[in-house]
Amino acid sequence: MRVLVTGGAGFIGANFVLQTVRERPDVQVTVLDALTYAGDEASLASVADAITFVRGDICDAALVDGLVAQSDLVVHFAAESHNDNSLHDPSPFVQTNVIGTFTLLEAVRKHGVRYHHISTDEVYGDLELDDPAKFTPDTPYNPSSPYSSTKASSDLLVRAWVRSFGVQATISNCSNNYGPLQHVEKFIPRQITNVIDGVRPKLYGTGQNVRDWIHVEDHNTAVWAIVERGRIGETYLIGADGEVDNKTVVETILDLMGQDADAYDLVSDRPGHDLRYAIDATRLRDELGWQPQYGSFREGLAATIDWYRANEAWWRPRKEATEAKYATLGR
Ligand code: NAD
Ligand code: DAU
Repeated sequence: MRVLVTGGAGFIGANFVLQTVRERPDVQVTVLDALTYAGDEASLASVADAITFVRGDICDAALVDGLVAQSDLVVHFAAESHNDNSLHDPSPFVQTNVIGTFTLLEAVRKHGVRYHHISTDEVYGDLELDDPAKFTPDTPYNPSSPYSSTKASSDLLVRAWVRSFGVQATISNCSNNYGPLQHVEKFIPRQITNVIDGVRPKLYGTGQNVRDWIHVEDHNTAVWAIVERGRIGETYLIGADGEVDNKTVVETILDLMGQDADAYDLVSDRPGHDLRYAIDATRLRDELGWQPQYGSFREGLAATIDWYRANEAWWRPRKEATEAKYATLGR
């Protein structure tokens, strides 16, 4: 099977490629990635001989058309992915997340290629802290940020291309991922690398916001389950019942790294900051028999800390510029 992986040099896409090469020798992987500030070819160094890497933009219709024509499956990870950036400059989010997805959909429509669309639980907006409810595939779309609204837009394009043109597509909406190879702008790697640098972790607002954490390896096994056994046109929510508030995440990182549990700073809040995300993954578990392998968030976090300690050469080049950007936002 020939698989085109867009965004394969980013966090989740690179982990998907590494997992696929490791576990599926029958799959030929081609990565299409523009190598924006978020992409790093070094993430794929260990599999460079086993894959084809194409540097290019998913909005480049001619390039995309040629690559899709040679594929049996497209798994679309490429995106502008960071909420804080989208609040600063939404423009690349509209371009990549909406126009890029449109470009891919037109190509898979033309060539009759199976398509899996990677999306986020943020399309559903947020939940109250004391609400027992979780997001389900029937929750109405209600995105809050420029990032999540462009992801919601891209999901709706996929649904329309399935219904109007018979495109063979599935969609997954996943909760917050953690694990190796995540950019240091994101919450968990930012705090781990801050502690390594002797800098106090930074919590937005009061730290009460809740995210539903899943290990990136579990996200990617779910993607393969959906690609292989999912129903065309269907939406699958991916989550591993990992709700934790941000303050507890920071306290756990500090504890695992041998620091006092209160050695963090509260900083100004993100505008429009979503309060809580929580996923009901019943459909994925019951219909496709998927189960997460990473049972303990604390153990997964400890392994992630070990990875950042052992791979400073990977993250160090991006740390200074990332913190300079946050400094201009006062966070
Ligand atoms: P990331 O920012 O780490 O990686 C994005 C990748 O896309 C980078 O390699 C970048 O170079 C590439 N890219 C960006 N614009 C491009 C363009 N125009 N053409 C080609 N390549 C381009 O993102 P991530 O965290 O790995 O997220 C991957 C996907 O998963 C996204 O679609 C995101 O919305 C979704 N998602 C992420 C999470 C999470 O917790 N990180 C959770 C649920 C869903
Ligand atoms: O829910 C899935 C989404 O998870 C994905 O669609 C996004 O691509 C991904 O970036 C992530 O979005 P979040 O905005 O939830 O992730 P982030 O890592 O930016 O922040 C996680 C939480 O931590 C959020 O409540 C904001 C908070 N935070 C973040 C940073 C960077 C802090 O308190 N301090 C920080 O320094």
